[in-house]
Amino acid sequence: MDKKIIVKICVGTYCYVMGGYELKDLKSKLPSHLVDKVKVEASVCLGCDKSAKPIPPYAEIDGELMEAASIEKITKKIESLIR
Ligand code: FES
Repeated sequence: MDKKIIVKICVGTYCYVMGGYELKDLKSKLPSHLVDKVKVEASVCLGCDKSAKPIPPYAEIDGELMEAASIEKITKKIESLIR
């Protein structure tokens, strides 16, 4: 079985109100060929407090932090990782 790409979605209040609520349904919005390749997890805060100018919402894909995350950006990143 292939190792899954771990996608953490921030559901902390700051990210949630800034668009994170859309990301929590990521799995249902991914193209079907990617659905089995990822494991989506919720995280309380991925580290916005460490940035001087945080740009929420945040996600983390295979350990790499992404700011201003969107379904589209996350999908592109997953595509690039499975290639
Ligand atoms: S609340 Fe989302 S990264 Fe901090």
